[in-house]
Formats: sequence, structure tokens, C-alpha cells
Amino acid sequence: MLTLKEEANVDKAVALLKNKKLVAIPTETVYGLAADARSEKALSEIFRAKNRPAFDPLILHFYQKEDLERYVEELPPVFHNLYEQFCPGPLTFILKKKNTVPDLATAGNPTVGVRFPKHKLTRAVLQQCGFPLAAPSANLFGKVSPTQASHVREQLGDRVDYILDGGPCSVGLESTIIDLSTAKPAILRLGGLSLEEIENALGEKIYTVQTSSSNPKAPGMLSAHYSPGIKLLHGNLIQNLKLINPAKTGTLTFSQKVGGVPLKNQRILSPKGNLVEAASQLFSSLNSFKGSGLEVILAEEFPNEGLGRAINDRLKRASVS
Ligand code: TXA
Ligand code: MG
Repeated sequence: MLTLKEEANVDKAVALLKNKKLVAIPTETVYGLAADARSEKALSEIFRAKNRPAFDPLILHFYQKEDLERYVEELPPVFHNLYEQFCPGPLTFILKKKNTVPDLATAGNPTVGVRFPKHKLTRAVLQQCGFPLAAPSANLFGKVSPTQASHVREQLGDRVDYILDGGPCSVGLESTIIDLSTAKPAILRLGGLSLEEIENALGEKIYTVQTSSSNPKAPGMLSAHYSPGIKLLHGNLIQNLKLINPAKTGTLTFSQKVGGVPLKNQRILSPKGNLVEAASQLFSSLNSFKGSGLEVILAEEFPNEGLGRAINDRLKRASVS
């Protein structure tokens, strides 16, 4: 059993990463499975550990924007505007890459995803490493993203060399992805920074790309993803409940209890009705149904505003099997 100090040992994480090993790192969004982004060997270990297909590119994590110069082409003005307002924070930028970024990291794309995570342990790791860390969410491909160290251990076990335990993730949803490699910015993935905040910052409406299995612009945004391992129905909860045995049913709601379903099978994400709090609870609530023996989870439609959009997006994908 590791002591808390050892579990949060930044020096150990840095030493392993310098040796091209895999380290799970805490971020404000979800835990990442990190490795030296400059090393093809380290990158291939990430894909292997996650069972991730090579067509799905990785996000590179940096300490600060000054460190980007070696890896990306000229930064557009809109980048600086968003960086000043939201970074470090839950926002990933798609930018034109330089050939210092290995093709394996970008799945052969001429663009690369970059982000500046906010968690203080991971910021210390990035600063001490001095090189970017490639890090997808630290789950098996297609499964729910981990928002605490124990989720990483359950899914990846000894496929990861070390888990840097930074406690539960404060945002709890992956970063919002904005594509700045084309003439007009576009959102490729809804996430921990709301569309409204980005639109307010830029003073314009931003297009959100609808992704699907047949045309995944951000390839990780396949329709079937975030599988909790139990059938999940997303939509009109009360209507769905009529069709189902309530004793074998779990529910996932925003703020209200559901009559007729045992309380131990209910997950209420924010009793006070706050979407930020609800987002932070989403993945750990989905994870908590594991091993419950329930036959189905009924998840309600959340308000389609702020982080509610990203919550609905994840629930919709979790419902596709
Ligand atoms: O919050 C996050 O972004 C977390 C933490 C660990 O930083 N990371 C994360 O990584 O969610 P991952 O690999 O699970 O999701 C990355 C998404 C994928 O859907 C991938 O297709 C997309 O980013 N992506 C990466 N590079 C891209 C690129 N060059 N063009 C388009 N999409 C890209
Ligand atoms: Mg992921």
C-alpha cells in the first residue's frame, strides 16, 4: 500500500516520464495517460495500454504558450485571446503542427491538439519535464473517463507505470476542443468550458461540428463512447420508466429524485440544480453503477445550456452500444 506522499510524488512521475514510461496524471478535467510526446516508442505504449486505434490522435499538454514554438506554426490572434482568458484551463486548441510532432501523436493529421491543464501537480510535472506530454484520457478505449485515481487503477491496472494521485478532478468533463486551423474557429467537442463562455470571449457565434461514426472530425468523438458497461437510455426518463422493472433500474438525474426507484439506485448529480456541480459528478456517478447488477440506467435530458450541453453529449454517446 502506497502512502499518500508516495502517491503524489511529482519527482517520481517526472523521472519515469523522462525514461519514456507511462504515468497517469491528474488534470482539472479527467485523468490523463501521459508519456513523452516526442518519443514514438512512448506514444505507441499509450495506444497499446488503452487498446486505442491509431487513427485517434492525442492531445499534447504544455506548461505555457511559450513552449509551443517548437511544435506548432504561427499562432492566430484568436488563440492569444482565448489563452489569456481561459488558460490554464479546460480548453484544447487544434493548430497547424510542425514536423517536430511525431505523426503517431496526430494520426497523420497536419494539425495537433494542444492544451494547458490547470492541476497544480501536473503543472509541476510539465514544468520539470520541459517537454510536452501526450495524454489521452486514462481509460480503456470507449469506456468512461476517470475522474479519480482509483478509476485509473480499475481500468488500466499495471498497464500504467505510476498513478500520480491528485484527488478528484474538479471539472469532471474532458476539455472543450476548438479548431483554430481553419479560417473560422469551430468547436469539435463540447466539454468543460461552455460554448457560451467562448462565444462571449470572442464576441461571435461559434459553429459546433456534429460528429458521427461515419465522419468523425475529432475521431475520438465516435457515436459509441463512454460506455458504462450497462445499457443506458437517455431521454424522457418517466416515459422510459414505464417500460421497465424499477427494481432493476438505476437513474441519473440533474436535481430530482425519481418516485418508485430504490434510492440506492439513484444518482442525483446536483440537488441544488447547478450544472457545474452536475458535470463534476457525471463520470464518477456512471462509474459507480459498475458491479451493481442493474439491468438498465435511465438518464434524463439535462438543460441544453452551459455545461448541460456537454453532459447531454456524453450521455447520448454512452447510450449507443
Ligand atoms: O480534458 C482532456 O482533453 C483530457 C485530459 C487528459 O487532458 N484528454 C482527453 O484526451 O480527453 P482524449 O484522447 O481522450 O480525447 C482527445 C480528443 C479525441 O477525440 C481526438 O480525436 C481529438 O481530441 N483530437 C486530438 N488531436 C486532434 C486533431 N489534430 N484534430 C482533431 N481532433 C483531435
Ligand atoms: Mg477519451
